[in-house]
Amino acid sequence: MTSVADDLRALVRTIPDFPKPGIQFRDITTLMLDRSGLSRAVDALADTVDGPIDLVAAIEARGFAIGGALAVKLGAGLLLIRKDGKLPGKTIAEDYALEYGTDRLAMHVDACTPDARVLVVDDLLATGGTALAAVRLVRRAGGNVVGARFLIDLPELGGGDALVAAGVDARSLLAYE
Ligand code: PRP
Ligand code: ADE
Repeated sequence: MTSVADDLRALVRTIPDFPKPGIQFRDITTLMLDRSGLSRAVDALADTVDGPIDLVAAIEARGFAIGGALAVKLGAGLLLIRKDGKLPGKTIAEDYALEYGTDRLAMHVDACTPDARVLVVDDLLATGGTALAAVRLVRRAGGNVVGARFLIDLPELGGGDALVAAGVDARSLLAYE
C-alpha cells in the first residue's frame, strides 16, 4: 500500500529549466487537477496542526489554493498575503529575495486581530524568503504566528532552517532534493 505522501508525490510534475535554466520547477497544477489531490493534501496538512487557528495567512498565488482549502478545513478565517499593489485598503509591505528574483508582499494593515493565532501557508518552501516576509508582515500586524505549512519543501535551499531560526514551527508534506 502506498502512503499519502507517495500518492501526492506522484501527482507533482517536475519541469526542468523553468522559469530559468537550472531550476527544477515543482509543478502542483497536476496535483490540483486530480479529483482527490487537493483534498488529500489539505487533510494531511490539517493533521499536522495542533490547537485552534484563527487565521490562515495564504501567500499569492499558488498558496491561495492550498491555504483557502486548509482554512475551510480548520474552521479558520483566510488572510490574503498578496504581491504588492493588489490590495485596495491600507497595507504594510515587506521585500524579499526569491530563488529566481526579488519581489514585495503586502497585507491589509487591519487584517489581523491582536494576538490572533495565525498559520502561514504556501505551496512550496525554497529559500524561505517569501514565507519569512509573510511572517514579518503578520507579526508587524500584531498576529501570533503559530506555524507555517507547505505542500513541498526544497531543504537544500535552507528555508526550513531559516523559519526555525525565526522561531516558526515549519512543516511540509513532501521534500525534493
Ligand atoms: C513560489 C512559491 C513560493 C515561493 C517560494 O512563488 O509559490 O511562494 O516561490 O520561494 P522562496 O522560499 O525561495 O521564497 P512565486 O514567487 O513563484 O509566485 P506564484 O505562487 O505567484 O507563482
Ligand atoms: N518556487 C521557488 N522555487 C520553486 C521551484 N523549484 N519549483 C516551484 N516553485 C518554486
